[in-house]
Amino acid sequence: MRIDKLLANIGYGSRKEVKKMLKAGQVAVNEELVKDGKQHVNPKEDRILVHGEEVHYREFIYLMMNKPPGVISATEDLREETVIDLLAHEHAVFEPFPVGRLDKDTEGLLLLTNDGKLSHRLLSPKKHVPKTYFAVIEGEVTAADIEAFRRGVTLDDGYVTKPGELVIVKSGLHSDIELTITEGKFHQVKRMFAAVGKRVVYLKRLSMGPLQLDEELELGEYRELLPKELELLMDQES
Ligand code: URA
Repeated sequence: MRIDKLLANIGYGSRKEVKKMLKAGQVAVNEELVKDGKQHVNPKEDRILVHGEEVHYREFIYLMMNKPPGVISATEDLREETVIDLLAHEHAVFEPFPVGRLDKDTEGLLLLTNDGKLSHRLLSPKKHVPKTYFAVIEGEVTAADIEAFRRGVTLDDGYVTKPGELVIVKSGLHSDIELTITEGKFHQVKRMFAAVGKRVVYLKRLSMGPLQLDEELELGEYRELLPKELELLMDQES
């Protein structure tokens, strides 16, 4: 990897600022000054010093976001604000992407990473990673709905869902529920409720596999995963 890209990636500044540092002789690789940003280095093997201090490179970043409504789960879009637009430069330089999608109006837990392998495994239909959502449903959710979801419901395209675990938190004209599913079909929660004649008016993801939404995070805020969370995620995905 180019030394200028590497240093910019881990927050030493923009490529332009890094270029200046290099020119000023502030960067050494294996005890030799490097002035050319194009020089390739191997972050795992080479000893890189900036201002005499060793640089610890890391390849991957893992962020937990409390996705706000109104932004889309994509890396770029011409018209809409994306979850990547909410990231600080120091995190965006790692080029993370959302692991799976939440609808524009859905809130809650979104994992962002540049670790393609982890993402792939978490999203693989073979892994059946459970995802739990909190939702407000128009109308009364009943025991019959619990039973229907447990058996699997037929979506508008004829697909029969895998069993979902529905818990009624509060029933009434509007019902609060929690639903755990192990698949990630397009608009799945909304379509499952549509299959039983009901409408989701609010949707928030609470968990994905072992990862629970940190309720301290305000909408739109994010943080790096804690070592323990990362460990749990890595353990269950292997
Ligand atoms: N199911 C939905 O309908 N929407 C989401 O954003 C996530 C799951």
